[in-house]
Formats: sequence, C-alpha cells, structure tokens
Amino acid sequence: MQIVILAAGQGKRMRSALPKVLQPLSDRPLLGHVLRTAASLNPSRTCVVYGHGGDAVRAAFSDLQVDWALQAEQLGTGHAVMQAMPALSREEPVLILYGDVPLLRADTLVKLAEAASDDKLGILTVTLDDPTGYGRIVRDAAGRIVRIVEQKDATEGERKIHEVNTGIMVVPGARLAGWLTHLSNDNAQREYYLTDVVAAAVRDGVPVVSTQPARVSETLGVNDKAQLADLERTHQRENAERLLNEGVTLRDPARIDVRGELICGRDVEIDIGCIFEGRVELGDGVVVGAHSVLRNVTIAAGTRIAPFCHFDDATVGAGCQLGPYARLRPGARLAEDVHIGNFVEVKNSDIAAHSKANHLAYVGDATVGSRVNIGAGTICCNYDGANKFRTVIEDDVFIGSDTQLVAPVTVGRGATLGAGTTLTQDAPPGQLTIARARQITITGWTRPVKKK
Ligand code: UD1
Ligand code: CA
Repeated sequence: MQIVILAAGQGKRMRSALPKVLQPLSDRPLLGHVLRTAASLNPSRTCVVYGHGGDAVRAAFSDLQVDWALQAEQLGTGHAVMQAMPALSREEPVLILYGDVPLLRADTLVKLAEAASDDKLGILTVTLDDPTGYGRIVRDAAGRIVRIVEQKDATEGERKIHEVNTGIMVVPGARLAGWLTHLSNDNAQREYYLTDVVAAAVRDGVPVVSTQPARVSETLGVNDKAQLADLERTHQRENAERLLNEGVTLRDPARIDVRGELICGRDVEIDIGCIFEGRVELGDGVVVGAHSVLRNVTIAAGTRIAPFCHFDDATVGAGCQLGPYARLRPGARLAEDVHIGNFVEVKNSDIAAHSKANHLAYVGDATVGSRVNIGAGTICCNYDGANKFRTVIEDDVFIGSDTQLVAPVTVGRGATLGAGTTLTQDAPPGQLTIARARQITITGWTRPVKKK
C-alpha cells in the first residue's frame, strides 16, 4: 500500500502564524500523528501534499522518509492528490489521509484497506446526527454506493442523508491517475473534487465498498482552535480511560494530560491537574499530588509526590517523599527513601539512600552520600561564571542551614558544617567545620536618631 496525506490547506481559521498541520495536539503536531499512524501501516511509500507554510512543514519532519509534493494553489482535494501522482506507483492501492485528522487509528485503516483489497474503491464513512458540511454518501435502492455529493452541490433530498464521507479512501493504484485526469471543476466550489472518483469507479464497474471506524472522533478534522481543543480533550479522555482500565486511580479523569507515554504499576494514584510528558514510569503505589508536571522520569514503588512538583529527566528510587514544590532537573538521580522538600532544586546530582533536603536548597552537580541532612538554604555554588564544578558530600554528613558549598569541594564522611558556613576548602570527616564571622555584642550601642 502507498499513502498520500493531504496537508496543503491553509487553515486560516486557526488565526495563527503556524501552519495548521503543525498545530500541536498532545505531544506532537497534527501531521505528526497522521505520519505516525501512516508509518505503522508499513506503506511502500508515503507522500505528503503540502502548500501553505510548506517549508516549515517539511522542516518539521525532515528526519522522516517521505516524499513531498507541492500543491501551490489549493484547487481541491482531487487536484491535491494529482500532485502526488509522480511519487506513486500504479501497482499498489493508494490510501488517502488528511493531515488535519489526527486521531485515526491504524486498525480502522487496516480494516478499510482489507475491504478495498487491490481492486475495489474503499471509503471510510460515518453516520452523523448532524451531517452539515460533509459530502454525503449516495446509495442506490440496493444499498450500493453510487457517488458522493458535496453539501454545496446536494439537493434538498440528498442533504437529508446522514452517512457522510470522512475523506479517507483507498483507491486502486492502476485506476487513480486516469480518474483524476478526468475530474472537472464544474461544481458549486469550482474545485477538483477527489470525491468524484467514486462515480467514475461506478461507471467503470469497479466495486465501491465502505467501512466504519470504531469511534467518530477518529475521523474528526481540525479547522479552528475550538476543534483543536475538543480533539485534545477527546484524546486525553481516551488516555484516561486506558489508565482507569489498567487500575490507576485518577481523582478526576477529566483533569489529566498525558502527552507521551505513561506507564503505571499497581495502585498508582494521580490527583488532578497533572501533566505527563515524554516517557514517565510510575512504580507500584506511587502517589502523584495535584498539579505536578513530570517529564521523562522514572519513579520507583511507594514514592509519594506532594502537589506542585516539577520533574524533568530524573530518576527517583522507592519510598521517597518529594514536594510540595520540589524541582528535579535533568540528571537528578535519587536512591530510595530520599526526602526532597519545598523549594528544593536538584540538578545533575546523585543523592544516596535516606538523605534529606527538606527546605529551600540548591543541589547541583553534587554527589551526596547516604543519611545526609542538607539544611534549609544550602546552596551548591557549582558555577564560577565560566565552568561548573562538583560538590562531594559523603555519608552521614550534617549540613547546617544557609551553607554555601563553593565547588569543587568535599565534605568528609560524618562531618558537620555549622549553619551559615561558606565552605571553600574540604571539610575533614567526623568533625565540626564552621566558617562564619564570630558573634559579638557591642555594649552601649544606640540606634541612630533622625537629625532635626
Ligand atoms: C472534504 C470532502 C468531503 C468530506 C470532508 C470530510 C472533497 C471534495 N470533499 O470536504 O466529502 O465530507 O472532506 O472532512 O474531497 N486539501 C488540500 N488541497 C486542497 C484542498 C484540500 O491539501 O486543494 C486538504 C486539506 O488541507 C484537508 C483535506 O484536504 O486536510 C480536506 O480539505 P477540506 O477543505 O477540509 O475538505 P472539504 O471541502 O471540507
Ligand atoms: Ca474539512
């Protein structure tokens, strides 16, 4: 099979500088969803018909093995497919998809392609309560499809037909070119309609068959931001249903966004307003508090995440307590039973088991041992404005509040740092190191008074 994706429409109603097919749904542009589904069908070739904003569209998918056909002027869907003909072979059927219909499923297309086989024309149709705007499927008394009539060309009677053309079709490769060259634009919109190949097939004695998708949402296109938002919610509701079926507790399935792959163990609980991006793995019994954003993270069993956390490219061990308001940045690796509290930022650091940084700290480019206590306001001064350096904090260290560790620096095993220390040299193991001005009291001092 070969695939043509129509993506030349301008999408004026988006009112955006970004071409319509590059507008994002979930984790990728609209066209990205269609290309992914197309690729899953293993076609011999895929050709995208592009037009408006074409360079940006091509650039966004420059890593893919697809052909591009320019449709400089949008003269209709039939004209669009014509632009792809040089890239296609006559030997195999052609599946036509729309770049702005992102939720179509591969199994729906497989079913359509099987029904059409090599020698029939297959149309994906749906029956809508309100068919306004769509091309209608006209059938004869025996129920055979005879043609498709566009809304603007339809008679009063034809407009009462509720079965509509989704636009998705499979056409025998040997016939397509011939039918396209005979299209005329003698119709209400002065366009070359792809849909007219249906009547041509009937005329030539080529059987026309139809199949239906499991859900109508699969066939919905996007023309404006409201439709984009609707499809996003549809997609997210489907994600949520899948998670519920897997046994995940969602406090509100309408308030979760999965923009990528979320893999959950048993008895995972997710509160409202969370966003999961990239690949996120949550172990058994993980609890994710409200309004947390997790991107490319792995969280082991039993870890509890309080509300308002932001994690990016991090690995978290079992039984940790994180947040509220914790931030894990790329390269944060926590072992088991680590506590990271409010307004603590961890970047490119390893923190070993049972260590804690409970309040207001920056742990960056650090190697932290086990059972370490990092006091409030501790900062790893890892950057001198040009280079970054590591801080090493060995096992069982206690770091007093408001300490600056000026890297490169090592705090030896079991050492204690007094509050307010600015550590510029290594602290020896097992001892108290303190670096701050001695406290003095000036007796007899009085506050200044305002001059008259
Ligand atoms: C088309 C169908 C209609 C069907 C409807 C489903 C035709 C004549 N009509 O209608 O039967 O019910 O889709 O949504 O085919 N495109 C191009 N170049 C063009 C014109 C369109 O690439 O010159 C692309 C658009 O970007 C879009 C798709 O083709 O992805 C469909 O175009 P659109 O204008 O939405 O089709 P309709 O006229 O609404
Ligand atoms: Ca349309």
